[in-house]
Amino acid sequence: MKSKKYYITTPLYYVNDKPHIGHAYTTLAADILARHLRAKDVPVHFQTGTDEHGSNIEKIAREKGVEPKAWCDGISADFRELWKTLNVKYDHFIRTTDPAHEAGVQAVFEKLIKSGDVYLGSYDGLYCRSCEAFYDEGELKEKNCPVHGKPVEHVSEETYFFRLSKYEKPLLEHYEQHPDFLSPRYRAQELLNFVKSGLKDISISRTKVAWGVQVKSNPKHTVYVWFDALLNYATGAGYNPEHVSPDFNTMWPADVHLVGKEIFRFHGVIWPAMLMALGVELPRKVYAHGWWTINGDKMSKSRGNFIKAEDVVQEYGVDALRYFIFREVSFGQDGDFSMDAFKRRYNADLANDLGNLFSRIMNMAAKYLDHQLPEKPEGSVIFGEFKTWTPEIHRSIETLQFGEALEKIWKAVSRLNHLVNERKPWELAKKDPEALKVFLYEMVWCLRLIAGWIDPFMPDTASRMHLQLGVGRPADGTEPQKVPALFPRKQDESKPARAGLDNIVPPSSPSGGLKPKDIKTN
Ligand code: MSP
Repeated sequence: MKSKKYYITTPLYYVNDKPHIGHAYTTLAADILARHLRAKDVPVHFQTGTDEHGSNIEKIAREKGVEPKAWCDGISADFRELWKTLNVKYDHFIRTTDPAHEAGVQAVFEKLIKSGDVYLGSYDGLYCRSCEAFYDEGELKEKNCPVHGKPVEHVSEETYFFRLSKYEKPLLEHYEQHPDFLSPRYRAQELLNFVKSGLKDISISRTKVAWGVQVKSNPKHTVYVWFDALLNYATGAGYNPEHVSPDFNTMWPADVHLVGKEIFRFHGVIWPAMLMALGVELPRKVYAHGWWTINGDKMSKSRGNFIKAEDVVQEYGVDALRYFIFREVSFGQDGDFSMDAFKRRYNADLANDLGNLFSRIMNMAAKYLDHQLPEKPEGSVIFGEFKTWTPEIHRSIETLQFGEALEKIWKAVSRLNHLVNERKPWELAKKDPEALKVFLYEMVWCLRLIAGWIDPFMPDTASRMHLQLGVGRPADGTEPQKVPALFPRKQDESKPARAGLDNIVPPSSPSGGLKPKDIKTN
C-alpha cells in the first residue's frame, strides 16, 4: 500500500467577487506548510478550489448578464491566476461544479436519505424575498427584513433536514478525545459552548434555488451550498459513497483543514457530523485563523480599503507579501494590513537586514574567496549554534506558528549583522586576510542555512540566494552570475547605508556567486 499523503486543504472560495489579500492568506499558509513538508520528503496533497453554487452567485451572474457557469469559469480562473502569481503550488484545484464532485454530493445525499440521517420535512420561517433568506424573529428590524426594511412573509417550505442533533454527544466525545482537533485552543471554547447548548437539525436543501446540485430522487430540490461545498474535501480526494477511489485511502483523513474563524463552526461541527453520518474517519485538525482588516477597517471595495495582492506583488515582489502577512501577525490572531507597516517591514527586515547582509557578504566572498565555496566551518560557534535551531523552526511551521518561525530566522539574521559590526571585516581585510577568510566561511555557511529556512516562505528569494551561494549548481567551473539585489530598497523610508563594509568592495564588483565545492546542504 502506498504511504499516506499529508493532506492539506483551504476553504473553497466563493466566486461572487475577485480574490483579495484575505483569500490569499489561507492559501499561502497552506502553501508554506506544503512546501516545508515536501522539502522533508513527506508526500503532500494540497487542495484548494472554488465554491460556485447558490442563489448569490446565480444572482450576480444574472446581473452581469451571463450564465452562472460562465461567470464561475471567469472568477475561478482569476483565483488560479492569483495562485500562480503568488507562487502557490497546489496539487488539486476543485470546483464544486466539477461533475465528479456533483456526482459525489448526489450519492452522499441518497445514502443519507437511506440511512435516515437526511429526512424530508418543512421549514417554517420568516422569509425575505429580496434576500432569498430566512430570518429569526430576533433578527428583524421593526418586524421587517434587517437588510431591505421590507415586510417578511411567513413561509413554510419543504426541505430536507440533516439530523445534526443526533451527533451532539459523539461530537463532544470526539473533541474530548482529540484535544487538537479544534485549533487553536483559544477558538475552540466558542464551538464547544455552541454544541453543548444543543444542536438542532439543519435544513440542507432548497426548492427556490435553481443553481445548485439537484437531489437525485427529488429534483425539485437543490442541495444547500454549505452541505455541497464541505463535501469537496472528500470528493476531491476521490470519495463517492458508491465507488471510493483507491486514491482516497492514500489521502484520507485530511491532516489539516485551514479555515478563517468565521467558518470554523461549519468545519468544526457540521462537517465532522456529516462524516460521522457517512461512517468516514474525521480529519485530524481544523485550524481557524484570524481576520485581516485594512487600516483598522473591514476590507471592503466600496470603502476603498481593499488591497489586491497583485498590486503589492507588482511593486514589492511576491516574497515580500509572503513574508509580511506571516511575520506581522501571529497566524490565528486578527491583524491589520497597512501599506505603511508593509513598507516599514520591507525596508527594515528585507532590504536592510537580509538583503544588505547578503549582498555585502557575497561581494566580499566574491572578492576574497575567489568565488570558491568554502569548506564547512566545522569549528564555527555561530554556525554550530544555528544548526541546532533548525528543529525548532521546523516545529513552529508544523504547528502553524509561522510568525514564530520567521521571528527566529530574523534573530539569526540580526545576529549575523551584529557579528559583521563586531568583527569589522573591512578592517580584517587590511590587517588579517586569513582571519577574514575564516569569517567569510562562517558567514556564507550561515547564509546557506538561512536560505534553507526561508525557502517555504520565500521560495524565489531562497533560490536566488542558493544560486549565489553555490547550492545546487553543477561544479562545472561556469562563472557565477551577477544577481540583482534581493530586495531593492524603496526610496522614501531608506536608512543610511551602513558604514565600512561598502568601502572595501569597488562599486563595479559583481554581486558574484560561489562555485560549489560541496553541494550538500547542512
Ligand atoms: N465558500 C466558503 C467556504 C466553503 S469551504 C467548504 C467561504 N468562502 S469565502 O470566499 O467567503 O472565504 C473563504 C476564506 O477566505 C475564509 O475562510 C478566510 O479564510 C478567507 N478570508 C476572506 N476574507 C478574509 C479576511 N479579510 N482576512 C482573513 N481571511 C479572510 O467562506
